[in-house]
Amino acid sequence: MRLIYSAFCYKNLENKYVIKGSLDMNQKVTVIGAGNVGATAAQRLAEKELADVVLIDIIEGVPQGKSLDLAEAAPIEKHDAHLVGANHYEVSANSDIVIITAGIPRKPGMSRDDLLATNRGIMKSVVGQVAKYSPNAILIIVSNPLDAMCHVAMEESGFPKNRIIGMAGVLDSARFRAFISMELDVSVENIQALVLGGHGDTMVPLPRFSTVAGVPITELMPPERIDALTVRTRNGGAEIVGLLKTGSAYYAPASAAVEMAESILKDKKKILPCAAFLEGEYGISGLFVGVPVKLGKNGIEQVITLKLTADEQKALEKSAAAVKELVDAMKKMA
Ligand code: APR
Repeated sequence: MRLIYSAFCYKNLENKYVIKGSLDMNQKVTVIGAGNVGATAAQRLAEKELADVVLIDIIEGVPQGKSLDLAEAAPIEKHDAHLVGANHYEVSANSDIVIITAGIPRKPGMSRDDLLATNRGIMKSVVGQVAKYSPNAILIIVSNPLDAMCHVAMEESGFPKNRIIGMAGVLDSARFRAFISMELDVSVENIQALVLGGHGDTMVPLPRFSTVAGVPITELMPPERIDALTVRTRNGGAEIVGLLKTGSAYYAPASAAVEMAESILKDKKKILPCAAFLEGEYGISGLFVGVPVKLGKNGIEQVITLKLTADEQKALEKSAAAVKELVDAMKKMA
């Protein structure tokens, strides 16, 4: 798909010229894994006309069938994105972004960490191919356990840290926002929320930075209701797994991955909570942990450091320790 953006130029506060936006781009996003999350992400990317979409899966016929089905919906949905499905990576060559959803999802009773060994093997094989055919791509990792899979992607691709981004915080924050909206009976559009840390039971919802029309929820709800919503947010994935019984959530995870892709493709420079490789920020080094980052055409363009209270910092460090445990466990695997 040919997208023409109007780039614009302005002077910033330091009196320097800044060019924002891009001119005349052919954008291409590959989604690996044509299952629930991957196919839904492909659908949203195409319907928003963000890019041409390549869908890849290991199962013969599935990516081809789903991309053809989506292409046949295009006249009704009124978009001109090109969609193609394949079992090999040649067709994905020179993608701008690769969203990786390949892997097994959870079943009831499983934690995300139970997926570690299987999804590590899948991630290794997928990323090797991605790096070969799209050496300049920005990777958005979705497969779980998310933070550990980002480490595998970094190791296998050799890509710099700005081009490996984990999708977790956008989803966890969206869940928190949805629950706040249900609690206060107010539009989701008025709600901002922030969830940091790993994508697991130790994630850190931050009520202080979660607002309704700019007002922190700490001023709108009693502490016990906020606690209930943060617990529900931490268990948000398990709640869906418990209801579906045969797999895990996919509509909201796909939306979250596509919001990240959009910010990169359009160089919007949105601040979104994502898993990023930290080197000293928040006192954490050598680990992927969920923090607010600025997403633009170069991927992670900045890690935003917030001033945390002692309790918030402790919770973030506990979450980072849980990520480290998984990374250490992977080191012991063959
Ligand atoms: N290469 C390409 N695709 C693969 C590979 C591989 N090596 N291994 C598995 N797949 C594909 C499967 O064939 C399947 O179509 O990945 C797809 C996964 O789809 P689903 O089983 O529907 O799982 P989904 O719900 O999409 O979740 C995928 O995202 O949110 C996470 O925890 C979730 O790790 C899981 C991943």
